[in-house]
Amino acid sequence: MRPLWIGTGFKMTKTRAQAVAYARRLRADLDPGVAGVRPFVLPPATALAEVSEVLDGGPVLTGAQNAHWEDEGAWTGELSVPQVADAGARVVEIGHSERREHFGETDETVRLKARATLRHGLVPLVCCGEDAAVFAAGGSVDHVLRQVHAALDGLPEGPDGLGRVLVAYEPIWAIGERGRPPRPEEVADVHAALAAVWGDRVAAILYGGSVTTDNAADLLHIPGVGGLFVGRAAWDVEGYLRLLDIARQRVGAMT
Ligand code: 13P
Repeated sequence: MRPLWIGTGFKMTKTRAQAVAYARRLRADLDPGVAGVRPFVLPPATALAEVSEVLDGGPVLTGAQNAHWEDEGAWTGELSVPQVADAGARVVEIGHSERREHFGETDETVRLKARATLRHGLVPLVCCGEDAAVFAAGGSVDHVLRQVHAALDGLPEGPDGLGRVLVAYEPIWAIGERGRPPRPEEVADVHAALAAVWGDRVAAILYGGSVTTDNAADLLHIPGVGGLFVGRAAWDVEGYLRLLDIARQRVGAMT
């Protein structure tokens, strides 16, 4: 059975000290491992190196919330994949809806970043998701399939290509303070469609958006869901540990 990927992105929260304290607690609680579950944490770039040092050699991967597609050069304010890898990143988040909305991320930059991430041996976490208007109009499946095709078409199959890619389906209407938790049946069609095209080819397809300890078990039961990508509910380390426990129980029930 493939592992369930359970990750959190801290977005623009936490000082270095707060992120390191979080990582130390995780390290203490999770060594030697979480059978069947693959945890990952994406701290702010300022804390990436320290958090990676704390978690190095344990079961939790660290990653960056963004990286540029070029390896180096005159790109003021950006970090490249080799630079985040040098700071310990094993995962690179690409194309979160907040970056698409506020920072000009497009299907094309997502495509370039996914390639750069694979080229350097890291795991691309490609985010996709529709807004409330598309959802209301019944266009979710088409919209999400189009985004993922734009990002991944042409990549080679196998462990150096698609087989290393994570896809996170995060409906915009479900994300963050202004989002609402989905009912599982509201996101099941998209997961079924993604699984039909990509399920056997990518490492996993995750669900994200208002995941909580109350709905995580139900969301993990949706066919095609291979993990969860969590914001607020995992920013407190106790919350993240509870979510990992829920995933562990799900793995136990499946094996
Ligand atoms: P929330 O879990 O806070 O809704 O955020 C989800 C998300 O955007 C993860 O990247």
